[in-house]
Formats: sequence, C-alpha cells, structure tokens
Amino acid sequence: MQPRVLVVDDEKLIRWSLRQRLSQEGCEVLEAADGAAATQIIEDGAFELALLDLRLPDTTGIELMKKIQAGASGLPVILITAYSSIDSAVDAMKCGAFDYVTKPFNMDEIMVTVHRALEQSNLRLQLSSQLKQQRAQFGLENVIGKSASMMRIKGLARKVAHSQASTVLLLGESGVGKDLIAKVIHFESARAEKPFMNITCTALPDALLESELFGHEKGSSTDAKTRKKGLFELAEGGTVFLDEVGDTSPQVQAKLLRILDEKACKRVGGTQEIMVDVRVIAATNRDLNKAIEDKRFREDLFYRLNIISIYIEPLREHKEDIPLLLSHFLHHFRREFHRPHVELTSAAHDKLLNYDWPGNVRELRNTLERAVLLSNAGTITADDILLGRESVGPSDDRESLTMRLLKQGYKLAEIEKDIVRQALERTHYNQTRAAVLLGISRDQVRYKMEKFGIAPSNEVEQGN
Ligand SMILES: Nc1ncnc2c1ncn2[C@@H]1O[C@H](COP(=O)(O)OP(=O)(O)OP(=O)(O)O)[C@@H](O)[C@H]1O
Ligand SMILES: [Mg+2]
Repeated sequence: MQPRVLVVDDEKLIRWSLRQRLSQEGCEVLEAADGAAATQIIEDGAFELALLDLRLPDTTGIELMKKIQAGASGLPVILITAYSSIDSAVDAMKCGAFDYVTKPFNMDEIMVTVHRALEQSNLRLQLSSQLKQQRAQFGLENVIGKSASMMRIKGLARKVAHSQASTVLLLGESGVGKDLIAKVIHFESARAEKPFMNITCTALPDALLESELFGHEKGSSTDAKTRKKGLFELAEGGTVFLDEVGDTSPQVQAKLLRILDEKACKRVGGTQEIMVDVRVIAATNRDLNKAIEDKRFREDLFYRLNIISIYIEPLREHKEDIPLLLSHFLHHFRREFHRPHVELTSAAHDKLLNYDWPGNVRELRNTLERAVLLSNAGTITADDILLGRESVGPSDDRESLTMRLLKQGYKLAEIEKDIVRQALERTHYNQTRAAVLLGISRDQVRYKMEKFGIAPSNEVEQGN
C-alpha cells in the first residue's frame, strides 16, 4: 500500500514541491493550507505521517500535532520551521515530534527523515496489529467455562488485571490453566503494550536463573563476557510471569522478596540499584504451606506473593464445564487439521464426561487433539478416545508394551523401521497422524521414511 503523508503549510510553493517529491517516492499526499482544513483530515485519520509547518495562519503546528497524537499515539510528525523559530522546534521535539526540518530546506535531507519516520510508523502499525492479535488470543473470552468456579476465576482475573496489584499468585494443579490466566491478566491490563516475560524457574540451574532474572555485569562470572539486562529490567512497564516459583532456591527466593518489596534490583556482580516497574505473576502447582513446613519455601515470600491469590480448581470439581470445553477444542482442532466435519458419537461424549481428568484441561485438550487426528471416518467413537494410561500403550490391544532383549540381541534400526512402517500403514500414510502415534514430529517421520526407504504402496492420502 502507498504510504499516505499529510502536508500542512500555508505556502503554496512548499506544498507543491513536497507533493512533487513525495509522489516520486511513491507516497500519496494529502494537503492542507491551514489548521481548519488540516483538522478535517486529522479527524479522518487516514495517513501514516504528517509534515506540519510550525506557523500557520489560524493555529500552530504544535497544536495540530497534539490533535494527531490524541487520535493515534505514536504516529510520527515532522515539523517544518524557519531558522528564526528553532527554539520552538526544540520544544516540539520535547512534545513528541519525530524530527524537525528548517526552511529553506534540502529535499534529499527531508526525504531521509521521511523514510525513517515511515519505517517507525510501519513498525507501530505492525506492533498494534500484533497486540490486537494477542489481545484476541488472550482475552477473557478465551477462558472457557460457565461454572460458578470459572466465573469466579474470570471475575477475579479481570479485577486484578485492572487493579494496581503488583503481585498475583496463581495456584492449582498441573493443566488447570495457570499459564492461560497469567497471559489474560497481562493482556487485559493497561500493561498490555509492554512486555510479558515468562520464565520457568525450574528450567535453569540456580546461577543461570539469577542472571536471567536480574541480569549481570560484565565479568561477574567467567561466562559473563558482556553486561546483560535481566528479565525484570526487560519487562519494564509490563509483567513478569514466574512459573513454578515453588521450586526456587533460598537464594533466589531472598532476591525475589527484595525486588517485590523495594521495586529495585541489582544485577549479579553489580552495585547499582535498578528501579523496576513490573507486575509479578507467580504460579505453582505445589502445596506452598507444605513447602513452608518443610523449610523449602520462605514464609515471608509466601505472604508477600499471597496478597492476591487465585486458586484454579481441578476440572473434576467443575465437570459441568466439560461440554463447553469439548466443543471449544473440537472446533479448534477441526480447523487446525482441516477436518471440518469430525463429530463425537454420544458414547464418546459420555466417556469424556465421565472421566476424572487428573491432567485437567491440558489432558482434555490433548485427548481431543489425538482423537481428531486419529479418527478415521467423520466420527470419533468411544474407542478412538484413549484416556489416562490407555493412551500410552499401543491402541489395538491396549496393553502396555514391554520388550525383552533376546539372547542374540536386536538390531535397533530394524525395530525402528518396522514400527515406523506400522504407524504409516495404520494411518494410511498420513504423516501427521503417524507422527502423533510415534510421538515425533512430521519432519522426523519424513526423515525416517527417507532413511529407511519406506514408501507408500498405492494408498496415499491427500493433504499430507
Ligand atoms: N478454561 C480454559 N479454557 C480454555 N483453555 C484452557 C482453559 N484452561 C486451560 N486451558 C488450556 O489448557 C492447556 C493447559 O493450560 P496451562 O498451560 O495454562 O496449565 P497450567 O496450569 O499452567 O499447567 P502447569 O502447572 O503444568 O504449568 C493450555 O493449552 C490452555 O490454553
Ligand atoms: Mg503452566
């Protein structure tokens, strides 16, 4: 699309020469000679950059810039000034102008500035569409469930999102939706345009975790070749999500407590206090009271985190939400796997309703994903649904597979080839579905087919 540039200047010759050059550069030009005409165009808001003369017959460029920024914050404005008014140009920069150019001007120089500004404008648009997408993906409406328990959780999440609360603790078994709620709280909040930083505290050894969270100074350890900002600094203005906080070491716990209390941290090996404005959302599937008793978790940190806590009940305690969740995920996987007509038989539906879901919503989601992928005709039968331990063994006999090493040994590659071939035959050479059966990626299936020289006989399914 052609970028649209608004040019406001009372000198006809200047408007004319800017129009000539901007058109050559592939821009569409909107022109106004005074504030009144410019205001009309600004209200329509259909441009990506504005070039404004500072002195206009009925207003000033600064006033117009304020109008533009009120409607579309971040839209770049370049001011055109005479040498004599350079002071106010500097003031204008302070008010958020992208840059200023002085009259009489050099067209080539202006075009450099114009291109830089358009790049920023482009970036701004990309960011705002990305944000829209994330907001759509992590809005409250994506939290499925109408039970009293889910309504309470959604209500709390909304309240917390809009509050000043600087810490939130999310509790609940694995798979109940703690990650999801953390993102919802961020993207529903005024912090949404700032970063959401996520770290699983158990994924890293202690020393690394510390430097990830708080950053380090150059030379603070043999690995610290350069200075590095920590997650808290990088998330400035946004949210830090600390997953599995229940499993952190005493040293990390002490530092977390400090950052929560004082809103400041020091980089590892550093002395300077760095102020940070972040909301901390911590999550754990551990029983923190037990961890405190066992002296594995600091009581003072618990109280600090627990000021606002949201407990998400296990799915077996709000089973009335299962039908909604089923239709939500069915809809999702139909689209994802291009199987728009897949349906659950009523026996399959019952089987899903009557199960206890120890792995909660995650297990339900995975179960349905697998069922949609592996369903043969347009229906998912009760037999297509493998629950709990059923889903680990081979689906034919539902017994767990144990292999014994024979005296003469095995050739692993032959076993692998045989299993890969079986998976492909069973799925009529649908590589995606074979990959699910084998617990590997589709690329790995392809690779193994090539490696072992496995080719479909004549039974190739479309859409592989
Ligand atoms: N109420 C819900 N509506 C829609 N999707 C949900 C809901 N609850 C959970 N999910 C989905 O279930 C999956 C597991 O949820 P999530 O990862 O948030 O669980 P968790 O509590 O963080 O688990 P863990 O303790 O193992 O980290 C995700 O795909 C999530 O989007
Ligand atoms: Mg999680």
